[in-house]
Amino acid sequence: MSEWKAICQVSDIPTLGARRVQRAAGPQVALFRTADDRVFALLDRCPHKAGQLSQGLVHGTAVTCPLHGWNIALDTGRAHAPDEGATPAFSVKVDNGTVYLDNQELTSLAIDPVDSGCGGACVCSH
Ligand code: FES
Repeated sequence: MSEWKAICQVSDIPTLGARRVQRAAGPQVALFRTADDRVFALLDRCPHKAGQLSQGLVHGTAVTCPLHGWNIALDTGRAHAPDEGATPAFSVKVDNGTVYLDNQELTSLAIDPVDSGCGGACVCSH
């Protein structure tokens, strides 16, 4: 059963922007807010070369990485074709304007950078 951890208010995330969430261990998580106030969470690491997705542009339900322009789906973390790869997506719950993340995922998902989606096969910094 999920143990939800309150992170912030939806209004704390800029519309079409992102807010970073620090974890006790592992790379940070990025919360994204769409134009229609939906919230998604991805590891803040592009599956291409580890760009910070939180610095990218949100459009529809995707974010464009600021480094080389890959488009990453906010719901799955998958790169839009023809690019390939994925960054881990985190479960999000919004209740009465408060954004929650799954505490178990925060403490265990993609703690080891090798799990960040590239499988260690890319040329990113880890
Ligand atoms: S690091 Fe994101 S597109 Fe290259």
